[in-house]
Amino acid sequence: MNEARPESMSAFWMPFTNNRDFKSDPRLLVSAEGMYYKDVDGNQILDGTAGLWCVPCGHAQPRIVSAVREMIGQLDFAPTFQMGHPAAFDLAEKLMDYTGHKFGHVFYTNSGSEAVDTALKIALAYHKARGEGGRTRLIGRERGYHGVGFGGLSVGGIGPNRKAFGPLLPGVDHLPHTHNLLKNAFSRGEPDFGAELADELERLVTLHDASTIAAVIVEPVSGSTGVLVPPKGYLKKLRQICDKHGILLIFDEVITGFGRLTTPFAADYFEVEPDMMTTAKGLTNGVIPMGAVFSKKHIHDAFLDAPAGIELFHGYTYSGHPVACAASLATLEVFKEQQILEHARGIQPYWEDAVHSLKDLPHVIDLRTIGLIAGIELEPIPGKPGARAFQALKKAFADGILIRTTGDIIALSPPLILEKQHIDDLFGKLANVLKNLD
Ligand SMILES: Cc1ncc(COP(=O)(O)O)c(C=O)c1O
Repeated sequence: MNEARPESMSAFWMPFTNNRDFKSDPRLLVSAEGMYYKDVDGNQILDGTAGLWCVPCGHAQPRIVSAVREMIGQLDFAPTFQMGHPAAFDLAEKLMDYTGHKFGHVFYTNSGSEAVDTALKIALAYHKARGEGGRTRLIGRERGYHGVGFGGLSVGGIGPNRKAFGPLLPGVDHLPHTHNLLKNAFSRGEPDFGAELADELERLVTLHDASTIAAVIVEPVSGSTGVLVPPKGYLKKLRQICDKHGILLIFDEVITGFGRLTTPFAADYFEVEPDMMTTAKGLTNGVIPMGAVFSKKHIHDAFLDAPAGIELFHGYTYSGHPVACAASLATLEVFKEQQILEHARGIQPYWEDAVHSLKDLPHVIDLRTIGLIAGIELEPIPGKPGARAFQALKKAFADGILIRTTGDIIALSPPLILEKQHIDDLFGKLANVLKNLD
């Protein structure tokens, strides 16, 4: 397989990567099937992260692969501006079914970042359409990740992502994050402490006045900053405060959507209905880039009072791309026919026990689990934040498992099709890695 190695790695400016380090010691994936990648040297790599939280139904899922092949041959591209094609409409209806008809409409994008920026724009335009154009303020949360567009970056709460790119959007504020190692370490599921942090929204309302606030956006479970699970009751409180003040609540479900918590969406898991949900990744099983914003009917309908013509001056050339729609339709079929959620629910307790079996290993200062997600927080090496977890990533890859790290936190999010033997293999190898770190 060595012939697949690229001649030069210089030209590709890799995203969110230490390019110099990677290119001196590359990790190259050349194929994938089911629970496994294969690297350029022919080694099998067990996928502990579904790529990047992307592949709930497993890699190279035959039904999805053939749906994509078929659509490329039939309709390679079709515009959705003042035109349409059947798959985009079929998919929208099927997605509404998948949400249990809690939402009325879906707007297609190509990524999570675009879904977030779309939802923020819809929130602003919605208030304007209703005659409340003063509601321009957007509220995110510390340690939130909402992609890399200027909207998502502005409401996002990760310092290093933001600091080189200012000025960001004006009129944005942030809730405090809910991570509390002192009170909540080693929780299973939702931690007990911290629901009252939602009351910070009341403080922001008092400060800015509700009439200036358009929307609050949060990840129900923060993924990219290391699996921060919401405290019990926190999301319900946010919902109540938003309702009280006419503020829209947006759940960014780019990682939690499509089964990650063993329910269709995190909104179902936490029994909280947001006004909009942003999704991507699992929407097409990661096969073709696609994002989507789900909106309540009343939000969409507010635009119908506008003078006849285009209701929303927004969209992407590839919104509702036929091949992405085909991938997503096939993904929904696989979810149903292969009972992916039921399987995930069945295996979740075994997963949770396996995660918590790491408790007494060196450097482990917290373990967090919810659905088929795990956060494993390590004690940082003094003066070298992130170095210990990054060392774990490299050792894990060499041992045949793919993990993801953010700071000194290892985040795991396997394809939902995994079986007990994969869990045993993943945690057996990970335990070994943890025992051999600096
Ligand atoms: C919660 C959340 N929102 C938005 C995004 C951005 O998605 P994309 O990378 O597809 O733009 C991500 C990506 O990981 C995410 O986790």
